[in-house]
Amino acid sequence: MLKKSLVAACAISLGTISLTACGSSSDSGSGGGDDPITMGFAQVGAESGWRTANTKNIKETAEKEDVNLKFSDAQQKQENQIKAIRSYIQQKVDVIAFSPVVETGWDTVLLEAKRANIPVILTDRSVDTKDTTLYKTFLGSDFIKEGEKAGEWLVDNAKEADVNGDGSVNVVQIEGTTGAAPAIDRGEGFADTIKSDPNIKVIASQTGDFTRDGGKKVMEGFLQKYGVNGIDLVFAHNDDMALGAIEAIEAAGGKPGTDIKIVSIDAVHDGMQALVDGKINFIVECNPLLGDYAAGLVKKVLAGETVEKKNYGEDGSFTQEQAKAALDSRKY
Ligand code: AHR
Repeated sequence: MLKKSLVAACAISLGTISLTACGSSSDSGSGGGDDPITMGFAQVGAESGWRTANTKNIKETAEKEDVNLKFSDAQQKQENQIKAIRSYIQQKVDVIAFSPVVETGWDTVLLEAKRANIPVILTDRSVDTKDTTLYKTFLGSDFIKEGEKAGEWLVDNAKEADVNGDGSVNVVQIEGTTGAAPAIDRGEGFADTIKSDPNIKVIASQTGDFTRDGGKKVMEGFLQKYGVNGIDLVFAHNDDMALGAIEAIEAAGGKPGTDIKIVSIDAVHDGMQALVDGKINFIVECNPLLGDYAAGLVKKVLAGETVEKKNYGEDGSFTQEQAKAALDSRKY
């Protein structure tokens, strides 16, 4: 309480220049006065190109903003993230930010943070909880919209996506990590949108855990079951899994992007390159550069200001032609 009021009292002096803890040294792990803010960041892992870009951006922003960053990589395991959050609570950091591996199962540890008076900011992925006072704010992409955009492209291009020309579009879906917000929401947005065309059918759906290797293995299984000719389109919940699927299709003698169309999400460099090369047909963007936005919210939260509970960024999308024009200027 004491710290909160002191932070609020010096909120004006924070400006946009640097993040500075204004609490007393007795109630803050980072000390008082002009000591930098200490932030514990519990990252999901290093599963994808998107995640690598996100981690780099968080670390660079912390350095730029003079934040004392304590960073941990959970290797896609919820128990590791919970351990990391508990250790940040013990260390009395000023703020905890994390990107939850899965949506549920956070109430206990978030309550511990709340009782310790440490604000929690959710970045990239949200949690599913009845008690929304357990976190201050969320910032990231609208994953449902991303799934919808992927579905809209398919509905608009259903004729070309019917590669085998039998009147129906046989889709296989490579899902993200089971239970993760982007896997749930992208799947939901996509399914709701393609409903409008009864000729589009999802014939199989399986998790590839957001990794390239996972995407490759899942696609190998689909190809074994249906063959190149039995699949018209792959909807991959991220670029890395689409890149894995490309490897599997090529190994099976197919031409990705032609014999089997591919739609994915992220728009990271390797995905965009594959789109330019004609191996992917459409990508929905998901921006990993959340650092500056997060820093702004941290400042406001520590200054006791009211912030929106959910903050969504604007994401675009790319056809092959659009990717050719955009590739050189991409930041990740
Ligand atoms: O939560 C964002 C998703 O997580 C990205 O789409 C994916 O690449 C990452 O692993």
